[in-house]
Amino acid sequence: MSGIDEVRAAWASLVPGLDAADENHLAELRSRFLGKKGEIPGLMRLLGSVPPAEKPAFGAAVQALRLEVESALDAFLESIRSRALLDRLESETLDLSLSGENSEPGTLHPLLALRDEILDLFVGMGFEIADAPEVDDEWFNFSALNVPDDHPARDMQDTFFLEREPGRPAVVLRTHTSNYQIHAMRDRKPPFRLLHCGEVYRCDADATHAPMFCQVEGLVLDKGIAFSHLKATLFTMVRALYGPQAILRFRPSFFPFTEPSAEMDVDCRSVGLDRDGWMEIGGCGMVNPKVLANVGVDSEEFQGFAFGFGLDRMVMLRHGIKDIGLLTAGDMRFLRQFRGLA
Ligand code: DAH
Repeated sequence: MSGIDEVRAAWASLVPGLDAADENHLAELRSRFLGKKGEIPGLMRLLGSVPPAEKPAFGAAVQALRLEVESALDAFLESIRSRALLDRLESETLDLSLSGENSEPGTLHPLLALRDEILDLFVGMGFEIADAPEVDDEWFNFSALNVPDDHPARDMQDTFFLEREPGRPAVVLRTHTSNYQIHAMRDRKPPFRLLHCGEVYRCDADATHAPMFCQVEGLVLDKGIAFSHLKATLFTMVRALYGPQAILRFRPSFFPFTEPSAEMDVDCRSVGLDRDGWMEIGGCGMVNPKVLANVGVDSEEFQGFAFGFGLDRMVMLRHGIKDIGLLTAGDMRFLRQFRGLA
């Protein structure tokens, strides 16, 4: 029939080579035979010149050829793709039979080792360990903690703000674990002793500041809590971690969520570091009654203390590390030194 046999023959001559074709070649053939201006639609356009009696047979033959070409091209494409997948699976297999004899034993990262030690220590003092979100509403991170709207800590330079959804409150990567205090006080009734440890984020980086670091936050609410309870708790912690000879001091300071507030420093030489001076490891104080009011706790009945320490600083102090960035750089030469030490 006019033209059909030629097209079929042309197609048939190509089929034996298709096993080795790639996707591009298949796409070219698809366009050559099936595309709008392709050979098979071209045959359909000849239908007008076919004698009426032959039209049905002609149409059926073109349609049969179209189906044959289409399904063959689909099948070749499918087989190319599954072969590529098999090749990938084969090249990416993991040989579990490899001997482990020469591999180095793993060890806890010094941050995790110290975190575990601190959690154990506080559990021993009757604290409960609890969790809090790292991505939080600004209210938990700032407002409820009595941090005023115009406080510099809210500034874009320090805080990572997330893109704000219309009609929703502003959301931040928490800048401190103190957001935990608000979650804790909303979720449960005092008295309690709570500890939380987790990552915090600030737009800041130098030898003693990292954009992501870890804090330990404590919160105790009970009747008759005084600053002396706070001091005793922190002395106990520092001496358990650094030895009974450790010297620490409380320096008057200011935090909107505590009143009075202090910063706690450790004497570097007293914990075996080869340098004079103090290293600040965090802030603490008596929970500000305004914060208690924000979460519906009666400050006449309950008082509390809170503290928030930089875990990275505490690790630096323990091992004499001078650059905070080393803790997250993933350098095996650095990490190997802590094997069996932490
Ligand atoms: N959140 C403070 C900071 O990151 C540290 C802090 C100070 C935490 C006093 C507290 C506190 O719980 O009572 O700088």
